[in-house]
Amino acid sequence: MATIAQSRRDLSRLEDYLEAIYNLHEEKGYVSASDISDRLGVKPPTVSSMVANLAKKGYLEHERYRGMRLTPSGEKVARSVIKRHQVISDLITMLGVDPQTAYVDTEGIEHHVHPSTLQRMEKLAEYFHENPHILEKIMDYLNRD
Ligand code: CO
Repeated sequence: MATIAQSRRDLSRLEDYLEAIYNLHEEKGYVSASDISDRLGVKPPTVSSMVANLAKKGYLEHERYRGMRLTPSGEKVARSVIKRHQVISDLITMLGVDPQTAYVDTEGIEHHVHPSTLQRMEKLAEYFHENPHILEKIMDYLNRD
């Protein structure tokens, strides 16, 4: 029987694939299984079975000679993950988290953040953008030993 933790993991994995496929498509205009394998650090056979699963669920289609592309419902999920990614990454980077850590943390948090939390994070980042002197004070504090 599938536990809640297991289905959350499955959902996170699904979101990672859709996010990667969307981004690769934006970057290259073409997505192959080996691109996904490189991007996600996953073995090719695992990619093939996940891609088949995503196609079965209606999130992507294979196009002859053109690799794969997301369907509108796949794009909708991908855009939602990418939006979460941007908001989280923007805020924690602003607070001085180093880029490598910010990336790894964002990749984790993006799957679990509640919409209302995300909305507050976004507003806070917006506030910092509009009030850089306040962010500067906070940074002075954060950088103090
Ligand atoms: Co992400």
